[in-house]
Amino acid sequence: QNVKGRVSFEDVTFHFENSGQGVENVNFAIEPGQTVAIVGPTGAGKTTLINLLQRVQEPNEGRILIDGVDISNVTRKSLRQSVATVFQDAGLFNRSIESNIRVGREDASLGDVRDAASAASAADFIAAKSDGYETVAGERGGQLSGGERQRIAIARAMLKDSPILVLDEATSALDVETEEKVKTAIDGLRSNRTTFVIAHRLSTVRDADLVIFMDRGKVVEMGGFDELARQGGRFASLLRA
Ligand code: GTP
Ligand code: MG
Repeated sequence: QNVKGRVSFEDVTFHFENSGQGVENVNFAIEPGQTVAIVGPTGAGKTTLINLLQRVQEPNEGRILIDGVDISNVTRKSLRQSVATVFQDAGLFNRSIESNIRVGREDASLGDVRDAASAASAADFIAAKSDGYETVAGERGGQLSGGERQRIAIARAMLKDSPILVLDEATSALDVETEEKVKTAIDGLRSNRTTFVIAHRLSTVRDADLVIFMDRGKVVEMGGFDELARQGGRFASLLRA
């Protein structure tokens, strides 16, 4: 990978064709390895912002740069190599755990797959299954628990080794022990990667270099955690709630 992971949004506006909703005039820049936490109420435009970074949608105005290159000039295929995603619905297929981890890195050896699983705190639960890495995940990973699915998705992202990471933090409650494992796995994944996280946990937001508070498609507040907490605005009142 020669992508470093510097990301900037320059006056980015996007509207869905029929509804007019979307995101309005978004501006920020982050350095390689930094973490951006995106927060805000439902319908604020958090997922839309993330989708623009992956060219799922294209800006109507403005541009998005990775390492200074306008991503509208980058093929979606090479963008997928630069940006790994870990979503709530983990994107698992009805195949073995091994092949689910290997998605996007079909060339990887079983050793690489195992290393990624260890780094994702997934090795123990996989080893505990009678079929191990050959265990079939089921439709959309339905044979696995939520915490297991998440760690498979994290292992997949580990193996892909992309400089940019997109996380949609799960809202579903995990037991305390699993929660701790998932958090450790995510922290490992975040290190050295530029990370965009749609954050639902205070601890995640606290760790971020930049917090973007959105509402109705607009960036309402943006800055460091302490800075926003001190400002006494929307973000601060969220903290008090
Ligand atoms: P939560 O995931 O619920 O926390 O919301 P979010 O902040 O991720 O909002 P999102 O970016 O998904 O949506 C922003 C706005 O765009 C909302 O008003 C949505 O109803 C609207 N929207 C999202 N996806 C679509 C779409 O595919 N088509 C249209 N027309 N509108 C959409
Ligand atoms: Mg969303």
